[in-house]
Amino acid sequence: MTTGEGAPSHKLWGGRFSSGPSPLLEAVNRSIGVDVRLWPFDIQLSQAWAESLGAAGVIPAAESRVLVAGLDAVRRRLEAGVAPGPADEDIHTLIDRLLHEEVGEPASRLHTGRSRNDQVATATRLWTLDACRRLDGAVRGLQEVMVRTAERLEDALLPAYTHLQRAQPVSGAHWMLSHFWPLARDRRRLAAAAAGAGVMPLGSGAVAGSAFPVPREFLRERLGFAALSPNSIDAVADRDFVAETLFALTLLATHLSRLAEDMILFGSGEFGFLRFGDAFSTGSSMMPQKRNPDVFEIARGSAARLLGDLTTVLATLKGLPSGYNKDLQDDKRPLFDGVDTMLLVLPAAAGALDEVTFDTARMRAAVSAGLMATDLADYLVDRGVTFRDAHGAVGRLVREAEAAGVELDGLPPASFAAAHPGFGADVRDALKPERSLARRELPGGTGPAAVREQLAAARAAISAA
Ligand code: ARG
Repeated sequence: MTTGEGAPSHKLWGGRFSSGPSPLLEAVNRSIGVDVRLWPFDIQLSQAWAESLGAAGVIPAAESRVLVAGLDAVRRRLEAGVAPGPADEDIHTLIDRLLHEEVGEPASRLHTGRSRNDQVATATRLWTLDACRRLDGAVRGLQEVMVRTAERLEDALLPAYTHLQRAQPVSGAHWMLSHFWPLARDRRRLAAAAAGAGVMPLGSGAVAGSAFPVPREFLRERLGFAALSPNSIDAVADRDFVAETLFALTLLATHLSRLAEDMILFGSGEFGFLRFGDAFSTGSSMMPQKRNPDVFEIARGSAARLLGDLTTVLATLKGLPSGYNKDLQDDKRPLFDGVDTMLLVLPAAAGALDEVTFDTARMRAAVSAGLMATDLADYLVDRGVTFRDAHGAVGRLVREAEAAGVELDGLPPASFAAAHPGFGADVRDALKPERSLARRELPGGTGPAAVREQLAAARAAISAA
C-alpha cells in the first residue's frame, strides 16, 4: 500500500480550502467500506469515458489509450486484492489514486467533464443490472425445485386452508405451485426494475450536463444501457431503480416468507405433513430431539430486513431537493444488503425445500369428510336444488355430525334423507375427496388434468423468462 495512516491523502477536491478536513468529517464522509465493490463497474465506465474523451478530441488519442491501459492495470491490482487505504474516501478516489500510480500525470485528465455524481449513479446502475441478472437466476433455481416438488406431490392430497381452518381438498402439486406463481411475478418485477436501471446518467456531470462534447450514444452502447437519461438534474439524483429493485425484492422476500410459514407449520408435530432434511436442519444445544427449520425461519425474517432496506431508501428520497445530495451516498448500503440477503436466502430455501420429505399419508388423513361439505351441497345443486337451500341442508348435517361426534361420512343414510329429499343412495360417492378434485378441471382448478396443465405452464414459464 502506498497510502496508509499518515500518508499524504489523494483527494478529488480540496483546492479551495485553506485548512484540511477534520478527521471527523473524513470519518463520516468515507464510503469506501461500502462502495468498494462497485470497482469493476467504475473501471468499465471510466474506460468508456476515457475512450469517449479521446473520440471527442477533448484529450489526445494517445492519452486516451494510456488511460484505458492504465485502468486495465488498476483492474488487475484490484483483482489481486489491493486494499483501500484509510485516506481513500470512496471507490472513485481509490481508482483515481491507483491510476495515478500506474500512469502518472495523464491520470489527471480522466475526470475531465465528469463528476462523481454522474459517475456513481452510472456505476450503481451497472451493479444493479448485474445483480438483477444474478437474482433472476436464483429465483429461477427455487422455481425449478418447486416444480420438482410439485411433480413429487401430483398424487398427494391435503386440505387447502382459509383462516388456517381446513377448507377443501386439493392436490399437493396445486398447493406447491401456489407458491410458484408469485415468484413468476417477482421475476417480471425484477426485469422491470432492471429496465429502470438501464438508463445511463453518464454525461450529466455534476448536475447541468458535461461541458465537453462527449458522445453519449457511444457511451451508452459501450456500457450496454438501453437509453440515455433525458435530464441531467434528474439523472444525478434518480434512485428510482434502487427503490424499484428493493420493492421487487421486498415482495419476493414476502412470498418466501409465506412459503416458509407453510413449511414451518406443516413441519410441526401437530401437522406432521413433512420432515426437514438433515442438511438443512439444525439441532438444539439443550433439547436433543430438536430438528429446527432455521432456513425457513431466516427466510421469513429476511422479509422484515428487506422491508427495512426499502423503507430506508424511500425515506431518504422523499425529502431531497433536486440535484445530487450527499444523503444519496447511503443508497448503496440498503441496496447491497437487500441483494446480498436474497442471494443468500434463495439458494438456501431451494436446498431446504428440495430436501424435504412429505408424509403423504398424514396429508391425506387431514382431508376429513367435513371438507366435502361444499361438494355435498353441490351434489344437491346438480339435482336442481338452489345453492342456498343446499347449503342449509348440509349445514344441518354438519351440526348433526358434530353432535354425534362423527365425520359427515359417519352419519347413517337416514340422516341424509331427513336433511333433504334430494340425497340419494349415491351420496357416499360425493363424499370422496378424489371426486371433489375431479370436479375442478377448469383452468386454474385443482383437478388432476388441470394441475398437469398448470405444471406444463410452470415449466414453460421457467424457460420463457
Ligand atoms: N461516494 C459518493 C456517493 O456515493 C460519490 C459522489 C460524491 N459526490 C459529491 N458531490 N461529493 O454518492
